[in-house]
Amino acid sequence: MYNSKIIGLGHYVPENVVTNDDLSKLMDTNDEWIQERTGIKERRHVIKGEDTTTTMGVKAAKIAIERAGIDKDEIDFIVFATLSPDYYFPGPGVLVQRDLGIKTVGALDVRNQCSGFVYGISVADQYIKSGMYKNVLVIGSEVHSTGLDMTTRGRGVSVIFGDGAGAAVVSREEDTAKGILSTHLHSEGQHAEELSLIAPGMGKRWVTDIIEENDPNDESYFPYMNGQFVFKNAVVRFSEVIMEGLQTNGLTPADINMLVPHQANLRISQFVQKKFGLSNDQVYNNIMNYGNTTAASIPIALTEAWEKGKVKDGDLVILAAFGSGFTWGSVIIRW
Ligand code: UT7
Repeated sequence: MYNSKIIGLGHYVPENVVTNDDLSKLMDTNDEWIQERTGIKERRHVIKGEDTTTTMGVKAAKIAIERAGIDKDEIDFIVFATLSPDYYFPGPGVLVQRDLGIKTVGALDVRNQCSGFVYGISVADQYIKSGMYKNVLVIGSEVHSTGLDMTTRGRGVSVIFGDGAGAAVVSREEDTAKGILSTHLHSEGQHAEELSLIAPGMGKRWVTDIIEENDPNDESYFPYMNGQFVFKNAVVRFSEVIMEGLQTNGLTPADINMLVPHQANLRISQFVQKKFGLSNDQVYNNIMNYGNTTAASIPIALTEAWEKGKVKDGDLVILAAFGSGFTWGSVIIRW
């Protein structure tokens, strides 16, 4: 019997800082609205041609591998979570295998949007617990900025999302009281279209259809979000899946040392914080600096929390996510 444990963390964000005031020059929005509704002050956008989802993932992974103190050739498997891959196919997992120069290990792409990193950690955890692999590299990386509607029409979405990457090396842990205690995953496809990007896809409209129709009012290739509906579901599911994780392990909210929630909206994090009676020091938020980076948000936040000494040996650390799908999940860790 083994457990799995995160032994290395890294993150990378592009240098280009985009403030709320910068966005207000492109669309009818303002700093006050964005901060009040979301908590976001600024986010990072890639400079086109400089960074991609894969290159950012590789940069974060290199840091995580170095901090793990292992050689890249000790990586047995790669899991890459993103909704914004460099190519429609193949996914970025194989590009990481190539760019890191890792031997021909398996590479899996996870498409669970904001819950992608939590799903990825769950996959890594199970491979390690089964004894199949010893070291699994899990990456969450996103480039949103190049695909957003940067006009007033898209302001309900485009002010929220940012670019960045985070990575973790998950490794075999012999002490089963330590490391990842459990993971909990859920989905509710009934609400698939409430937070979605419909085209291009093989289901409704492919690229050739979009070109042929050449409709300037076509919104289907921009992300759509029914914000209030997503918000209402998020606060319920975050709470449920954290509670599920605690109960599975015979724990209560009082046992939590650090909650790292997916950075969807500061108001969602604050709702969850209040619900579980946690102090500001027990919840790590950085949405003010990066916006919502989807699959990258948890590994970026976890890396920062760890770098600041807010995640210590023996701490009970909880990762929780909710997003498009809908999908949601939690990871319960004894650090
Ligand atoms: O990560 C995946 C999960 N995602 C989430 O959990 C996100 C959940 N949803 C949210 O965070 C919030 O719903 C939003 C931040 C997206 C929106 O906040 P809201 O308080 O729900 O605002 P709203 O969509 O109800 O819009 C209120 C008003 C509208 O104007 P009217 O109809 O009241 O005149 C919008 O048109 O705010 C307007 N608005 C904006 N105004 C200035 C929408 N976007 C903007 C904007 N700047 N960027």
